[in-house]
Amino acid sequence: MGNTVIIGTQWGDEGKGKIVDLLSKHADYVVRFQGGNNAGHTMVVNGKAIISHLIPSGIIQQKKCFIGNGVVVDPFVLLDEIDYLISNSIDASPKMLRISDRAHIIMPYHRMIDSAREEKIGAQKIGTTGRGIGPCYEDKAARRGIRFCDLLDFDLFKEKVATILEEKNFYLTQYYKTKALDPDTVIREFKQIKDRLIPYIDDVSVILHEGIKNKKILLFEGAQGTHLDIEHGTYPFVTSSSVVSGNAANGSGVGPACFDEIIGIVKAYATRVGEGPFPTELFDEIGDKLQKTGSEFGATTGRKRRCGWIDMVVLKNAAKLNSLSGLAITKLDVLDDLDEIKICTAYEHNGKTIANFPAEIKILQECSPVYETHPGWKEDITAIRELDDLPINAKKYLARLEELSGVKIKIISVGPGREATIIKESIFN
Ligand code: GDP
Ligand code: IMO
Ligand code: MG
Repeated sequence: MGNTVIIGTQWGDEGKGKIVDLLSKHADYVVRFQGGNNAGHTMVVNGKAIISHLIPSGIIQQKKCFIGNGVVVDPFVLLDEIDYLISNSIDASPKMLRISDRAHIIMPYHRMIDSAREEKIGAQKIGTTGRGIGPCYEDKAARRGIRFCDLLDFDLFKEKVATILEEKNFYLTQYYKTKALDPDTVIREFKQIKDRLIPYIDDVSVILHEGIKNKKILLFEGAQGTHLDIEHGTYPFVTSSSVVSGNAANGSGVGPACFDEIIGIVKAYATRVGEGPFPTELFDEIGDKLQKTGSEFGATTGRKRRCGWIDMVVLKNAAKLNSLSGLAITKLDVLDDLDEIKICTAYEHNGKTIANFPAEIKILQECSPVYETHPGWKEDITAIRELDDLPINAKKYLARLEELSGVKIKIISVGPGREATIIKESIFN
């Protein structure tokens, strides 16, 4: 396997964690490059589920893991996750995990602003995960963020916290009418954890470059999905980071020429958590069936995921934006029971066909999907491990996805477990 980037192609929760866990066996380093603990990646190994929010899923295969400069990290959540992994006999010590000194810290006021803002705007809310992701990236762009390297000079850290809290407390108390944060309390809480965090802080870019020089294989784990991207997604119903493959370089401090494969993870249908347009959303019993059969509940917030048919306008957009070299189709088994399966091939808007993903939310909301209908296979495929053994209608469905997207399918997932996978075209050479 060469250096590989894993990207969600839809609105997140495509099964990136499962595929990263699977591919980690062939990697030396596994790297997160954006997002934060808004992500929830589920790995199922020997029947046991492990969920990671911040630490790359490669930790399960005990590969060296890195949190890049593009990630926003809530240190309290990070330490809880480290403890959770240790309690599952997974080594998450500084030997296994390094955090970029340039990564920004999610501060308590980021979480407070995230929740207060959502509450205040009510019906117009984004439906965020409430983890402080947006406010942290806002401060990063506004050049008033606090980074992990700031913990290395605690006197300076204290000064920065005191200065920024003046502004945040004004905003919180005057605009959102919440309580103020006491600087001494915030500083005390960080003082209690800083000595545990410091051994994890490193110059991740330098280590990755050294690794590339020494022919280490790097696996980059995307979070969220292409249509939640701040630049290219259904703005403003997006997350606050760039999730596309180009940012795997920027968010980890490597150059874009080091990528050999870019694999787009595609759920065999579509889901979305939170608010925002979703042209193929189903409001009928088929939508309910996908939700139940696919156990579509958010791995971070536990919210019910909205469900619908697979959307090729979305997938083609993801192929274009990410330079996808291959696809991994997940949750194909969830369609086992359906009589008919639909594929959205384009949108219709005011009598016109739209083939490209529109920028305007209003247009997207008004679009109706153009569908083609395929017969289901009505067979349990969860035990199948060879492509040839798949029912003919499942093979036809996959072939049509390949044809419409113009990207080869390399992996097919037929269950949550690591073993429930069909390798269609090996990327492991
Ligand atoms: P991620 O955020 O992209 O890593 O995806 P999540 O972990 O949030 O959501 C995917 C869910 O689907 C998890 O519960 C996985 O265990 C599960 N899953 C992954 N692949 C498959 C599959 O092929 N079939 C089924 N039935 N479940 C799967
Ligand atoms: P993974 O990595 C699905 C959604 C939220 C909300 C929007 C903005 O598990 O695929 P944020 O808290 O980021 O400001 O929320 O983005 N969202 C996700 N949806 N999977 C995720 O991550 C998500 N991360 C954020 O529901 O609509
Ligand atoms: Mg998820």
